[in-house]
Amino acid sequence: MDFWQVIKKRHSVRSFDSQKDVSDKDIKKIIEAGKMAPSAGAIYPTNFLIIRDQKTKIEIAEAALGQYFISEAPVVIVVVADIEKTASRYGQRGRNLYAIQDAAAATENLLLAATALGLGTCWVGAFDEDKISQILKLEKSQRPLAIIPVGYKKV
Ligand SMILES: Cc1cc2nc3c(=O)[nH]c(=O)nc-3n(C[C@H](O)[C@H](O)[C@H](O)COP(=O)(O)O)c2cc1C
Repeated sequence: MDFWQVIKKRHSVRSFDSQKDVSDKDIKKIIEAGKMAPSAGAIYPTNFLIIRDQKTKIEIAEAALGQYFISEAPVVIVVVADIEKTASRYGQRGRNLYAIQDAAAATENLLLAATALGLGTCWVGAFDEDKISQILKLEKSQRPLAIIPVGYKKV
């Protein structure tokens, strides 16, 4: 698929074929694409948590205000920004802007890479941050910014 096809093809998928798994190889490629996104000061504060455990996926869906389609996907990627890493160089602007922008750029790369691999995704931003941090045992400086279910679209 060429670049323009990928751009046009990407759309939010909210119904996944739970019987069709996503390979670790594809997840690795998707994460690599996320890591290649630009980053203010080349600090790269974004981390990608990969969740396959069904119980955890259901907890995440609950923390995302009951968006249960998230737990139908075989893989859920949670995009997390280490905001203090960027703040240590750029202060408030790093904490409140650059770290968030970095994570958003990385998230878009994830979505496009998944599309290029024939996979469906949805950028989920409506969730209780404290609950997600609790479920994933995140440090205080680690801010969860996007939840991305990844799977084959149910036809
Ligand atoms: C920051 C952000 C947060 C979003 N949060 C959610 C969400 O919580 N749940 C959801 O189903 N879609 C969410 N979306 C997806 C949008 O609803 C979707 O991108 C929009 O309707 C356009 O459709 P498309 O992605 O198919 O082009 C979010 C998108 C962005 C960029």
